[in-house]
Amino acid sequence: MKIEGKEYRTIWFENNVVKIIDQTKLPHQFIIKDLKTVKDAINAIKIMEVRGAPLIGATAAYGLVLSILENNDQSFLKKSAEDLINSRPTAINLKWAVDRMINKLSGVNSDKILEIALNEAKTICEEDVKFCKNIGLNGLKIIEEIYNKKKDTVNILTHCNAGWLATINWGTATSPIYHAHKKGIKVHVWVDETRPRNQGANLTSYELNEEGVSNTIIADNTGGILMQRGEVDMCIVGTDRTLSTGDVANKIGTYLKALAAHDNKVPFYVALPSSTIDWDIKDFKDIPIEERNSEELSHIEGLDESGKLKKVQIYPKKSKAMNLAFDITPAKYITGLITEKGICDASKEGLGKLFK
Ligand code: MRU
Repeated sequence: MKIEGKEYRTIWFENNVVKIIDQTKLPHQFIIKDLKTVKDAINAIKIMEVRGAPLIGATAAYGLVLSILENNDQSFLKKSAEDLINSRPTAINLKWAVDRMINKLSGVNSDKILEIALNEAKTICEEDVKFCKNIGLNGLKIIEEIYNKKKDTVNILTHCNAGWLATINWGTATSPIYHAHKKGIKVHVWVDETRPRNQGANLTSYELNEEGVSNTIIADNTGGILMQRGEVDMCIVGTDRTLSTGDVANKIGTYLKALAAHDNKVPFYVALPSSTIDWDIKDFKDIPIEERNSEELSHIEGLDESGKLKKVQIYPKKSKAMNLAFDITPAKYITGLITEKGICDASKEGLGKLFK
């Protein structure tokens, strides 16, 4: 998708270096950063220079390519794989991508391994682009249906950033929106700010602006009253891990939006590629929920009067703060899952029909 009129992807490989867009600096600064070692890749995931479930999976895949370039040795590769998996706990795409790479690479001759690793990492990215595009085409049908009934702008609420910046291109939750916009359907997006890291305000609103999609940032607690007033036609969010039961882990605050949507009979959709499905865990209480540094709550970064990035403390110094990064939305509150293969019920049966 575009930034200042130029097409970008979120990650690419060039001259033995992995290139990423540093998302900690957006929307104020657009910086392309080089990852040269597996440690660079691990750090980029940990400090969220790259974030979003599909993108951290792709970064981990390229991280293993960097690991081979650094030290072409199976035990180093194994250690790199472990460290990458442990860099963030909730998004299953990370483990999915690392396991997929290791399955291809274990026992492969050292003279062939780099080429195979690079091909597989590129394939993971190309597949994600294709899957996200198909999620968009499938989700477009829902937006079209609402538009044909309403004959007026379709208002869509989204939480966090499940946009193209969280994937390789298109996004998951935003892909149906971009497809609708390109088709000339009038859409407007309510963008949850998404405290504490403000991925909604900093990333979703930014990327929608760059594509010319009408959007308004709202404080995280505003969705409820907008739904009561009939100003939200549907919600679409992304996910970091969807269980075979249809229960969904996503950015903290998603659950409360789903409850408000349920109470107001607003359709609540979750968009995901199949790489985000965890077929093993059966009980959502077993999903590891990331707890991040409380400084993400107590401090905030923005531009000062001279246009420089500045971090300031906003909480009382003596106060404790707790920063859980994800919550679980039970399947019963989800109208449907929008996947690359079609839309299904958030249930074992629904997912089973699409993914045999
Ligand atoms: O902590 P983040 O920014 O990595 O969280 C991202 C989300 O919660 C997204 O909704 C999810 O990863 C889906 S991205 C297509």
